[in-house]
Amino acid sequence: MAARSLACGFGRIPGILQGRGGPRGWRLRGVSALLRAAHGPRGSAPAGAAQYASYPTLSEQAARQPAAFWGPLARDTLVWDTPYHTVLDCDLNSGKLGWFLGGQLNVSVNCLDQHVQKSPESIALIWERDEPGTEVRITYRELLETTCRLANTLKRHGVHRGDRVAIYMSVSPLAVAAMLACARIGAVHTVIFAGFSAQSLAGRINDAKCKVVITFNQVLRGGRVVELKKIVDEAVKLCPTVQHVLVAHRTDNKVHMGHLDIPLEQEMAKEDPVCAPESMGSEDMLFLLYTSGSTGMPKGLVHTQAGYLLYSAVTHRLVFDYRPGDVFGCVADIGWITGHSYVVYGPLCNGATSVLFESTPVYPDAGRYWETVQRLKINQFYGAPTAFRLLLKYGDSWVRKYDRSSLRTLGSVGEPINREAWEWLHNVVGDRRCTLVDTWWQTETGGICIAPRPSEEGAEILPAMAMRPFFGIVLALMDEKGKVMEGGNVSGALCISQAWPGIARTIYGDHQRFMEAYFKAYPGYYFTGDGAYRTEEGYYQITGRMDDVINISGHRLGTAEVEDAMASHPAVPETAVIGYPHSIKGEVPFAFVVLKDDTGDSDVVIRELRSNVATKIAKYAVPDHILVVKRLPKTRSGKVMRRLLRKIVTGKAEDLGDTTTLEDPSIIMEILSAYQKHRDKGASGQ
Ligand code: PRX
Repeated sequence: MAARSLACGFGRIPGILQGRGGPRGWRLRGVSALLRAAHGPRGSAPAGAAQYASYPTLSEQAARQPAAFWGPLARDTLVWDTPYHTVLDCDLNSGKLGWFLGGQLNVSVNCLDQHVQKSPESIALIWERDEPGTEVRITYRELLETTCRLANTLKRHGVHRGDRVAIYMSVSPLAVAAMLACARIGAVHTVIFAGFSAQSLAGRINDAKCKVVITFNQVLRGGRVVELKKIVDEAVKLCPTVQHVLVAHRTDNKVHMGHLDIPLEQEMAKEDPVCAPESMGSEDMLFLLYTSGSTGMPKGLVHTQAGYLLYSAVTHRLVFDYRPGDVFGCVADIGWITGHSYVVYGPLCNGATSVLFESTPVYPDAGRYWETVQRLKINQFYGAPTAFRLLLKYGDSWVRKYDRSSLRTLGSVGEPINREAWEWLHNVVGDRRCTLVDTWWQTETGGICIAPRPSEEGAEILPAMAMRPFFGIVLALMDEKGKVMEGGNVSGALCISQAWPGIARTIYGDHQRFMEAYFKAYPGYYFTGDGAYRTEEGYYQITGRMDDVINISGHRLGTAEVEDAMASHPAVPETAVIGYPHSIKGEVPFAFVVLKDDTGDSDVVIRELRSNVATKIAKYAVPDHILVVKRLPKTRSGKVMRRLLRKIVTGKAEDLGDTTTLEDPSIIMEILSAYQKHRDKGASGQ
């Protein structure tokens, strides 16, 4: 490998600046240092940016001159083999999205080698295993060696640059090494959340045409054993492209090994702990991550190398006020984008110590998070509102019992955080002294796009609001006619009008679908699928999805997927699924089903429908409510009016809005009375 300019890493950045930044008020913690390094001797810092960086100034600069903002940051934040010649070449009208063109680098070198050169024994990962008190610390040197052994194993088993590898594992150092091993050799990983069923797994493996699957024999979650390998066995029967299954061991139990299966640790032991990194183009694929949309099957969003890495590293550093030496605790699963960006890539690129949380918030009891914070001395804790809502019901003593003085920043992600959970997190967990950031972003955005920080040190944070766009994120709210809404105190469709380095580049194998899903509704803008409210001060509050995507405990799910899973039942000609409010999970699926006239016992069918959804998607997708109706409300052109169903089940039947397109208005009373009976029975659909 050509000598890499390791001098360009974060190590060259002077200590994080604090204190008054001059006449414009508080200096942004960390930003000045970041930009001073970025605009160093070779750069052309905008006048005053380095000395007196204020949030509005920097925000404006990033919006108006994205190349001047991101170019120097990329140059000095990342380790390059070959410098880029063009910062960006993007056009949201045509879906052209290119960043740092001409540049070459290796993501695993950025996440590992550069830190190993400087401090090999610093801790990269603390694996908080399911069994409390048994954490394992892994140094940057160890993680690099493990990654290289795994990379060499992949190569020996025929994985080449550009090939896709499925990772179906629980949160563990080996799973992180598997991701980085792919990055090292230029393979494309697709991590599939270990809660997905065999059929879901197979669907994703087939869409990505994966050559290899990496998994565990079994995994532990909340003290229970999950038979991961058995699920993989079932899935790969349906996957003609899979040549090998690499099986690692999380438990001592033996599992059946078939003709595709290779014992991973045994193979890795034979390999060299050194593996030359592939030099990748900035826009080569780094990973695919499947996520639900409002129509069709989950889509494989493509993230590429340089822009994604830079965006996850810079947001990690600035939104959470990450400082060298901190222990960063993001409790997300690596199967979701939060795990990719804020457990693996962002923290490791910044040389942080990142916690891998394998367990659940209530195992062995409701004090698990805070006992972990105390034991590992976590400085930033990043989790999901669903867990906070659950924990607050257990009472404050589970929190107060543990020392949380190490905490400096608390973060929330994945769904709207309600006021009660926000206050609890702030007052009880954070003792009113931690910065609490409600962060809004998506699988598609690669990293955080709206959050209360960065901003001037000490700037106000309003409860339950993501508030401020990150640098380079230019937001627009659209009205029903597709016109940009100006001013404050307005609600509309949340769009982004300019590309940023972390944006997904396409949907794997289907660029047309990518364009239709994100760029068609408002030409020239990226449409997020969410609605938002803008206050008079210009702060943003997310109001929720505007499409047929629902959010169950922070897990994104397309109602169309659930409908498809149920419609495969021979007794069910039609279904409609909507999101139904739930005090802990946020939303749960509520299914309306029409049964064929000659269907026998409807309770039996309902049980079968539940089991269909669990096998075809995942347990979390199983509707909490299944209501049998004679027919569904449709427009004259045959489109199901889910909007009306939502109004009926949320008690807003008096305010149904425009119903003139309804084919037969009498259906409203029909469904309302079926729903009232269902509710009066206190039924959960059984
Ligand atoms: O509806 C928004 C919600 O989660 C969606 C994105 O889901 P996913 O791609 O799975 O990524 C989740 C983790 C980044 C968004 O379209 N969402 C995410 N964060 C928030 C949120 N809704 C409200 N407030 C948030 N902070």
